[in-house]
Parts: sequence; C-alpha cells; structure tokens
Amino acid sequence: MNRTTKSARSAKASFYCSACGNEQPRWFGHCPACKEWNTAVEAPAGGSPGAKSAGGGARRGAARWVPAGAEARTGVPVPLADVELGHVERVRTGLREIDRVLGGGIVPGSLLLVGGDPGIGKSTLMLQLAMAIARAGERILYVSGEESEEQIRLRARRLGEVPPTLLLLCETDLESVLEAAAQAKPSALVVDSIQTLSRADLEGGPGTVTQVRECALALLHYAKGSRTPVFLVGHVTKDGAVAGPRVLEHMVDAVLYLEGERYQHYRVLRAAKNRFGSTNELGVFEMLDSGLREVPNPSEAFLSDGKRAEPGVAVVASLEGSRPLLVEVQALVSSSFYGTPQRVTSGFDPRRLAVLIAVLERRVGLKLGRHDVFVTVTGGLTLDDPGTDLGVALAIASSFRSRPLLEGTLSLGEVSLSGELRRVARLDARLREAAQLGFKRAGFPRAQVSDAEGCGLETVPLASVREAFDALLGEKVAPPRPASEASEERRG
Ligand code: TYD
Ligand code: MG
Repeated sequence: MNRTTKSARSAKASFYCSACGNEQPRWFGHCPACKEWNTAVEAPAGGSPGAKSAGGGARRGAARWVPAGAEARTGVPVPLADVELGHVERVRTGLREIDRVLGGGIVPGSLLLVGGDPGIGKSTLMLQLAMAIARAGERILYVSGEESEEQIRLRARRLGEVPPTLLLLCETDLESVLEAAAQAKPSALVVDSIQTLSRADLEGGPGTVTQVRECALALLHYAKGSRTPVFLVGHVTKDGAVAGPRVLEHMVDAVLYLEGERYQHYRVLRAAKNRFGSTNELGVFEMLDSGLREVPNPSEAFLSDGKRAEPGVAVVASLEGSRPLLVEVQALVSSSFYGTPQRVTSGFDPRRLAVLIAVLERRVGLKLGRHDVFVTVTGGLTLDDPGTDLGVALAIASSFRSRPLLEGTLSLGEVSLSGELRRVARLDARLREAAQLGFKRAGFPRAQVSDAEGCGLETVPLASVREAFDALLGEKVAPPRPASEASEERRG
C-alpha cells in the first residue's frame, strides 16, 4: 500500500534534461549536470518508466529486469555464491572480430548499443551479424525503421546468401516490434535504429529524448525478461556521442563504436563500455563491395607497403587491447608561409603533437618554429597509446632532416618532457609482432632491455629522443629538385 503512494508521488515529480537525461524533481532553466540552458522536459505521464506497461506482453506490472525463470526469487536476496553460472554461456556470433570485441561472444539477455557516424556501415555490420547467427540455424529478428524491405533485401544480396531463419520487420512502433518479438521468439533481436522507434502513447516524435529513453527501457526489459540479446543501432551526434539521452549509455551492457574514415575502407569496432569484457579490444574490418570483411592480420593492413625507407615515415606498434598493431605514421615538415605555422594531425592528438615538437626543439635542437608540421596515421586509425610517441617524434625529425629511418625499424617509447624515454606496456608482444612481419630492428627504452631478450630483432636500447635521433636515422637523401629545373635540364 505504501509503495503505491510513493510511486504516485514520484510519478508527479519529474523533469529531465533533454541533453543529458539528468532527472530533477522540479523544472529548471539550467541543467545542474551538463550546464545546458532550456533543456528541461517534463517526464512522460506515468512518471517512472516502469509504471506503464509498454511491453505488449513482454512486461508485466512494475518494471523489473530479472531473467525469466527467476520469478520465484524476486525480491528475496540470494547468496551471491549460490547464483548459478551454468547458463551464462556466451553465444559465438560467427564473426570473430565481433566476438573478440564483446569479450568472447554474446551474453544472453544483454542489451548492446552500436554507434557510429552515418554511412560508416552500422546497418551493414548488423545485417552481416544477423546473417552469420542465422546461418547457424538460429532465428533472428532484424527490425528496421530506416529502410524498406526491398532496400534491405538489396543490401543482403551483396552480402551473400540469406538464411531462411533471418526474419525482417520494417516497423517504427515499439509495441508492434515487441509483439513481433514475443511471437517470433528470436535468438537475437536487432533494432536499426533506436532513434526511429517510438511509443504511440508518449508525446514527441521518434528520436526525442523521451522516446529514445522509454523505447530503450522497454527493450531492456524484453532482453532481460526473455534472455534474448538485443542490438540497438544508435546515431551519433556531431561531437561523437550516441544521440539521445546519456542514460541510454548507462542502460545498456555494452557500447560499441564503429569508426573509421568514411572514404577509406578500414573500419574499427571498439567497445567504449563493456560489462562482460575488456573495453580495449578492437575489431578491424575492411569495407568491400560485398560488405565488411574481417581483417585477420591488421598490422599488415596498416603498413602501407611495408618497410620502405623514406623521410617522414616511421612504424610504431600500438597496443589495442591485448593485441599489438603495427601502424605507419607519416610526417611532413615544410617551411611555413604564415606567421603562425600550421600543425595538422589526423589520427593523433594535436596537443600531444605540440609537446613532441617542443621536445624536438629543446632536447634535440631541431628548429621547427617556422615550419608547418603535418602528421597522419595510416588506415584511418587513431593512436592513443603513449608508447607511440617516439615513432611520431622520429617521423617528424626524419622529414625535417630528410633522413629516412633505417630500413625495417620499429620505434617505441613514451617521450617525457625532458626528452627521456619511458617504458611502454607489453614491449615483448609488440616486438614479437614486428619480428613476425619481417622487421629487422627495434629502438625502445633502455630500461626495458631485459623484456626484449629473444625477440628476434636487432635491439637498440635508447635513453632519450636525442639518442634515438642519432641511432635510428639513416643518411640524408637529396630532396626532389623543383620541377622547373628538371624540365630545363631535359630541354638542354
Ligand atoms: P550503412 O551500413 O548503410 O551505414 P550506416 O547504417 O552506418 O549509415 O553503409 C553505408 C555505406 O557502406 C555505403 O556508403 C555503402 C557502403 N557499402 C559498401 O561499400 N559495401 C557493401 O557491401 C555495403 C552493403 C555497403
Ligand atoms: Mg543504417
């Protein structure tokens, strides 16, 4: 009895911020959480999302996300040690890279959010995932609110044979989706996208904060209640977050981002949150005419054509999760025509670049002050690993002095402000990867000599960037002659 009066009261008192989803009992002009103005929205009638039955039979009474079959235990604490683990078998999707990112497969009843820029390949990835699971004989329900049946059939045709257990529903009404799911009882549900779903009994069109939140919540109950994994595709806003309330990201078990440069063909799937595994794992795909193809050896992919010696090119080994990736970094240094020289990066933090340039100026004596510096990471990858600092610094120095790095050289080390090299994590794994790909030598922090034993590379232990500059750069190569001179010579 007490409980009903309490929930009635809380139902009355609810406003929340349409930018971040922060809830407040009173109306506000300025969100105390995200500091945005005029974002207060009244919560849907009925207040707390559980109070209404949106679930079309998927949800009974008050919202609770207890797995089906556990009804008898509801509300009674159980000893954690007695909770059975037998049924938490992960389901392999058949796509190795997705399994890797998820930490070894899909956990039953999990709610997963897949975000990414428009056109990056989210729908393609989800359809491929659905096809892969269906190929194992499982029933999959793919719900699309964005495309027509023909459009999806056309896409599927490019991706290969369509298994008969893959069911398609083009629908934007949440109730209908849940009803269809309750009837079809699929082994997994894909919703493309959460921003197109809506509940008819709520105000506001699809994509509004209320709708996104309520629909995601209903799907959360469906997932937990029926132990069906649910994949939600989410759009991404300009600043890179999944559009809609922040609470969406809190609600789901895992947030995966599909990233990459739209006009390059590599795509990286990364977990920003993962309740069932590491957030560092990364899956690499290549976008082909026949959909996304898993890249079994990404290091080969990210090295353009291997170990050529050209000024401004360095190879680093970046640790992505448990896997070291060899990546090529290119730098170009040229004299600046402007008062303020330009520093442009792609795939590398510009502030980190500023630090490296300052270290090169002060500790190595390279006068970069009047030069533009451009740094690119190949393959559309982003380098966050500080162990890649030395490679970037050497690429810049190499371009500036027109001295290519010695052929087949890998450089590793975090650069400190004093110009010294700091240790990098898991040096042995990185060196082994390089040795496998035919590299000859590696420069790395001197403190780690013992880690490098038996790696199969010529080892060059280094104390500082200055030492690396002296030890790893080759002879100066002649810069290309201006085109006018060359053509004059030809005439003469
Ligand atoms: P899509 O999955 O529709 O992206 P999203 O759902 O993230 O908006 O993919 C869009 C792009 O992928 C589109 O520009 C075409 C390209 N593509 C291929 O290159 N090969 C293919 O086999 C498919 C299906 C798409
Ligand atoms: Mg899409």
